Amino acid sequence: MKPINVGLLGTGTVGGGTFKVLQRNSEEISRRAGCTIRIAVVADTDIVRAKGVAGDAARVTADAFEVVNDPQIDVVVELIGGYTIAKDLMLKAIANGKHVVTANKALLALHGNEIFSAARKQGVMVAFEAAVGGGIPIIKSLREGLTANRIEWIAGIINGTSNFILSEMRAKGAAFADVLKEAQSKGYAEADPTFDIEGVDAAHKLAIMAAIGFGIPVQFDKAYVEGISKLAQQDIRYAEELGYRIKLLGIAKRRAAGFELRVHPTLIPTGQLIANVEGVMNAILVKGDAVGQTMYYGAGAGAEPTASAVVADLVDVARALTADPEHRVPHLAFQHDQLSNVPILPMGEVETSYYLRLRVADKAGVLADITRILADQAISIEALVQKPHDGEEHVDIILLTHLTREKKIDAAILSIEALPVVSGKITRIRMEALQ
Ligand code: HSE
Repeated sequence: MKPINVGLLGTGTVGGGTFKVLQRNSEEISRRAGCTIRIAVVADTDIVRAKGVAGDAARVTADAFEVVNDPQIDVVVELIGGYTIAKDLMLKAIANGKHVVTANKALLALHGNEIFSAARKQGVMVAFEAAVGGGIPIIKSLREGLTANRIEWIAGIINGTSNFILSEMRAKGAAFADVLKEAQSKGYAEADPTFDIEGVDAAHKLAIMAAIGFGIPVQFDKAYVEGISKLAQQDIRYAEELGYRIKLLGIAKRRAAGFELRVHPTLIPTGQLIANVEGVMNAILVKGDAVGQTMYYGAGAGAEPTASAVVADLVDVARALTADPEHRVPHLAFQHDQLSNVPILPMGEVETSYYLRLRVADKAGVLADITRILADQAISIEALVQKPHDGEEHVDIILLTHLTREKKIDAAILSIEALPVVSGKITRIRMEALQ
């Protein structure tokens, strides 16, 4: 087979890693792909950086549009990121009949349906293993390895930065703001860490996984997104005392009335394998009706781990080039005319259990008032702990509930906060047994 010519857009961390891995392992990669995969041209507005990556092995240009319009290029690897230029470049590459490999989760989460539709009409592939979980082959697993299953739920630690922060807060007893600074100095968190710490990056990835797992369109706009920036050190400590770890989880769950799609800090029993995933590592649990629970663990970011996913996609594209478009694996795993319009449930309909922390006056009848409000909402209590008096007039009460609906806990929280014996706001963190 003739060599595949690749145009690489973006020579940052992942672009540089992709160049290196393709060069280092070129012989093994060719033996697998059945042809040579070579980066023919590299585009970056930072020409010096691009030259540093490509050396003499590829042509360098500052104009990425030149690459997507180059008739010699078979596959475009988009590693620029963002929604604007990356989208124009990708759509142009598709319109020119080129296959695309991308790590751009934000773009696919927001515009994936449009991009996949354009690609289908042109009969080209858009491959995006690197968009979710870095080097973990979770897209391939969901789309192909688990294809026999009705996927029941997916729950993942899919943002390494926030997992690093939570791990450090627990291990060192440090406050959120201090650990964030450390993460930034180590290069884990961006200068603007909003997407990482506010759950947006995780929700991008979750929306993509849910689409592939359930056969629904990509619906990032319907996801509930809550990050870790308001998490207090004392909740991590109290959770630990009760046998739980707090993780930022992306959860997609099949329910009779629709799908849950949510990202938020979550208490997980410490005995669960995923509760012990620490630092910048990622892990994703998938529950299929036939296979049961499976877990995928690995580096969710970084030059070579992410390059591993990009190059795997390139090999996939190379292998599928000779297949008719209708005989290729569909972009979202399900045939495009078989996507379901079963809705994403509003947050009020989500079913889970809760950790509540209240600060209350230490006097007779307080617990009775609180438990009466919960009983009125048919919320059953699993555990209740009053923390020892610390000399203050008020004490902390930690309450764990059994499974209930979010709208019931919302109503109960409002009523409890209105009690004169309750001071300030109630802290609510959702819990998942993951069984
Ligand atoms: N910023 C992401 C993370 C890595 O912290 O996991 C790229 O998806």
